[in-house]
Amino acid sequence: MSGRIPENILEDILSRINIVEIISGFIPLKQAGRNFRALCPFHHEKTPSFMVSPDRQIYHCFGCGESGNAFKFLMRYERLEFPEAVEALAKKAGVALPQTAKDDQRGTSIAQQLYKINELTAIFYRNNLSSPDGIRAKNYLLKRGIKEDTLKSFNIGYAPQNWDGLINHLRQKTISLALMEKAGVILPREGGGYYDRFRNRIIFPITDIKSRVLGFGARVLDDTLPKYINSPETSVYTKGKNLYGLNLAKDGIRENDFAVIVEGYLDFIMPYQEGLTNIVASLGTALTTEQVRLLKRYTHNAVIIYDPDMAGELATLRSLDIFIEEEIDVKVVTLPKGFDPDSFTKQNGIEKLKDRIKHASNLFEYKLGILKSRYDIKEAEGKRDVVCEMLLTINKFKNSILKSEYIKRLSEELNIDEHYILEELNKVKDNRLHTVIHQAAPKKASNINPVEKLLIKLMLEEKELIETIRQHLEPADFQDEKTAKIVSIMFDLVGQGKNLEPNSLMNYFGEEEISQIICESMFLPEVSDENKEKVVSDCISRLRGEKLRLKKQHLHDRIKTAQHQGDEETLNKLIAEFDYLIKKG
Ligand code: CTP
Ligand code: MN
Repeated sequence: MSGRIPENILEDILSRINIVEIISGFIPLKQAGRNFRALCPFHHEKTPSFMVSPDRQIYHCFGCGESGNAFKFLMRYERLEFPEAVEALAKKAGVALPQTAKDDQRGTSIAQQLYKINELTAIFYRNNLSSPDGIRAKNYLLKRGIKEDTLKSFNIGYAPQNWDGLINHLRQKTISLALMEKAGVILPREGGGYYDRFRNRIIFPITDIKSRVLGFGARVLDDTLPKYINSPETSVYTKGKNLYGLNLAKDGIRENDFAVIVEGYLDFIMPYQEGLTNIVASLGTALTTEQVRLLKRYTHNAVIIYDPDMAGELATLRSLDIFIEEEIDVKVVTLPKGFDPDSFTKQNGIEKLKDRIKHASNLFEYKLGILKSRYDIKEAEGKRDVVCEMLLTINKFKNSILKSEYIKRLSEELNIDEHYILEELNKVKDNRLHTVIHQAAPKKASNINPVEKLLIKLMLEEKELIETIRQHLEPADFQDEKTAKIVSIMFDLVGQGKNLEPNSLMNYFGEEEISQIICESMFLPEVSDENKEKVVSDCISRLRGEKLRLKKQHLHDRIKTAQHQGDEETLNKLIAEFDYLIKKG
């Protein structure tokens, strides 16, 4: 797991950062005694069972078993590879990594190469915007109200008219055509050779949360169709997994504790430029579950602004259900006909848009409003259809209070007895099966003897106890292979006079289960200082007792076999051994 990064450097990094700070940068933590508590970001839950220990610098979820140190958290939460997590934390800690470790990683990863090409491509297009060839594009953007500074901060660019501008540029940088094609920025020509994918278009680089360039959106300068051409999916870009602008807006979203969601590039850029900093764009129509989960790292509240046309309406309705399933509180802003967030902001100013956001309608009002305009609720059939469609949404709420509250409101709005609506609700097929499938299978708690875990915890807390324990037990006395491994490494490290922090101890093991065991151990109930010695000796005698019992049982089995076989000699030897064991025990 640790690759070629030396353990002492990993330890150095961990000693300079605080896991509480790192994790609270992603999810809100609440103090609970000596520890911090949160809703687990790795599985779905309603009561917090995710704990972070500032003393041990580890986290552990009692619900799903996910646990580890700061590296592990970043790997899981930000989906990083181990070296990437190390690099990120090294930067934070101000620790220099050995050059070789970094180079190795670059050399091996195709993803890193594609990011590099995308980066070079973005720079090429950006510089082009200020060239004579790009002046038309730049004027177009300025005329649409985008300021020079904004062009810079979004790295907006221009793809030249010719067929090989980018190819020639990247070739000079010794990038292979094969890689350019993998990055999706060039296309193979039928008779052989390649050409630039984007030509004579305005370029919007699409970045991820870490501001790495994933791909590009490219808009024409006039009314030609298609209006946009986008990068294809590549090994670094999967559509519907990313939110445009989240890298710029994440702090704003956290501070405001809600996110405004729009559809297009310009719908993001214009309001952001004018001072709406908690905004992201979905870049297409319907939001995906993955996008909503990405957002959920920063807030549980969302306001959607989609175009008031039919497609926008449908997109909104579809995404609403995802928000409910993910238990995000969602509201909807409807703009006047013919406006999108970009043009609305330009025409009326950002304060007017913020006003609309403040008065956004909740999901219930929004959907009911749409349905009322589609069906005639003066007719019984109209009422039936509206109830049926509303129930499909209401049924998605996991929370029964919300469910019953919305049913009550529906009954009032349509003037139907609640009782009948409930009857209909029971007919709606249970949709929960759906959401269960999306959730990762929760991990089971490890099945390790608690006595073994308690000893590990005590050894990690009091270095002096390790010596005592070592005098009475050997790693093989631990029944579980994994705890035996942990103990053996601990004995070794202490023998070498090494520091033994639980969070750095994990760096010595590649296996997921081992760090889980260490974390589970650390979160066992506290043992008071004056009791520690006693507890240790109890644990030792229990483990030894257990070992003795197993040995006796084993001998017992062998004695029986010898009796069967009439092997007198062996039998006598075994019985002598058995006697000795009993005396010793
Ligand atoms: N889109 C796309 N491909 C298209 C049309 C649209 O990928 N052929 C995506 C783009 O991300 C676009 C968004 O859908 O930003 C919204 O489309 P639309 O409203 O048509 O464009 P705007 O972003 O409003 O662009 P503009 O204001 O420049 O017309
Ligand atoms: Mn627009």
